[in-house]
Amino acid sequence: MTISQNRCIVTSRIDSRNHSNFIDVSKLKTSAISARGVEMVYQSGRQRYVALKGIDLDVRQGTIQLLMGHSGSGKTTLLSILAGILTPTSGKVNLLGKEITRMSRKKLSRFRRDNIGFIFQGFNLFGALNAVENVKLALEIKGIRGKSATNQALELLNMVGLANKAKMLPRDLSGGQKQRVAIARALAGTPQLIMADEPTAALDSHNGQAVIELLCNLAREGGSTVVMVTHDSRIQSFADNVTFLEDGEISHNPI
Ligand SMILES: Nc1ncnc2c1ncn2[C@@H]1O[C@H](COP(=O)(O)OP(=O)(O)OP(=O)(O)O)[C@@H](O)[C@H]1O
Ligand SMILES: [Mg+2]
Repeated sequence: MTISQNRCIVTSRIDSRNHSNFIDVSKLKTSAISARGVEMVYQSGRQRYVALKGIDLDVRQGTIQLLMGHSGSGKTTLLSILAGILTPTSGKVNLLGKEITRMSRKKLSRFRRDNIGFIFQGFNLFGALNAVENVKLALEIKGIRGKSATNQALELLNMVGLANKAKMLPRDLSGGQKQRVAIARALAGTPQLIMADEPTAALDSHNGQAVIELLCNLAREGGSTVVMVTHDSRIQSFADNVTFLEDGEISHNPI
């Protein structure tokens, strides 16, 4: 299977999710994500570390934006700020027309629940819950309950090729399988914004390819906006935009 620029293959798994309302992304002018002057200073005791030094970034709806750069360049910090998980020291972040940097904690957590699916670098699964329960929990938080939540959770696990591991606890899953459960959980409720921190890092090439296609289809067919941190150069070929970070700044000479 091949992935060419701005195209991806529609898999039958994705088709089954009713993403039939195709959005022509080339006609959309609005920014789904807009960051202005984002700075982040980490303070631990007397130590002060400037992790982001005034980032400006715009991501159009329905597109795939990559964040790349060396380890420690600030990718996870920026992604976490774009998702409202971290509050920047200064600067503004606007998501889907709302300035999240001005929202109360309560409003922001509701906004995140309703609009953002986040795939963490370290998976962040609940160890006491099995695979399907981890995904179901994300659906329940979004107000989907009972049999409907169970069925949707199983469908999401099926999409990432893990239908047969639904009852397994995270400790009994391989790193790649845990990563796929985390991806299924992030896609619960088909969020408009999908933020993924190295979603293919723990996957072999076959499963990595499947995840790339899955995220690509959600953007191309479902109109979701995807921001992905990656070191995986395969992903570059179908992204709409690639931004390189270097020491907390956007590097204009790709590294
Ligand atoms: N909580 C924290 N307290 C202090 N410094 C931090 C904290 N989190 C991150 N940093 C520092 O900020 C810088 C950027 O970290 P970040 O995790 O964003 O990098 P990254 O580009 O995602 O790296 P990697 O590719 O290794 O995941 C690093 O130098 C890191 O040590
Ligand atoms: Mg990181």
